[in-house]
Amino acid sequence: MTPHGPRGMTVNSFASVSLDPPLVLFAAARSSSQHAAFARPGPFAVHVLGEDQRAVSARFAAPGLDRFDGQEFVPGEDGTPLLPDALAVLECRSEQVVRAGDHDIVVGRVGRATKAVDGPAVRPLLYYGGSYRRVSEEWDEYDGDIDWSPLLL
Ligand SMILES: Cc1cc2nc3c(=O)[nH]c(=O)nc-3n(C[C@H](O)[C@H](O)[C@H](O)COP(=O)(O)O)c2cc1C
Repeated sequence: MTPHGPRGMTVNSFASVSLDPPLVLFAAARSSSQHAAFARPGPFAVHVLGEDQRAVSARFAAPGLDRFDGQEFVPGEDGTPLLPDALAVLECRSEQVVRAGDHDIVVGRVGRATKAVDGPAVRPLLYYGGSYRRVSEEWDEYDGDIDWSPLLL
């Protein structure tokens, strides 16, 4: 949330960093219209989108659009806008902003983590090779016992 209203952007540079303390990161393009809202101290929330949320991802990546216009959300503990129906929501506070080329890496401490939807029926939305993808239904049958060795070079 900013004095000019809520801000948000689609990122796939998200990664977990540390368990103790719980830290995560994402990289924000310095050229992005959203950069100033995130590359600073303050709260932000990360939403892990489900496979049926392509439209949400596209909306928050669309240039020149008021991304929250008509978008349902509720304020989190720190006033950050929280979107409905995400697989997981991490409410964070940025602790460090590290300059990295044409991006800034934002490191945030997780204050609250919520798993919004339970069960294997809902899978995460993926982005790979320039397209949105789904995790194969075979994943539901994965029992941790697959022999990966034929795939290793
Ligand atoms: C799947 C996907 C992943 C993206 N990941 C990032 C990212 O990690 N960091 C980033 O700065 N922009 C990322 N973007 C682009 C932003 O969403 C950005 O909002 C977009 O470039 C257009 O908005 P802007 O020009 O107003 O910033 C991603 C876009 C998509 C579709």
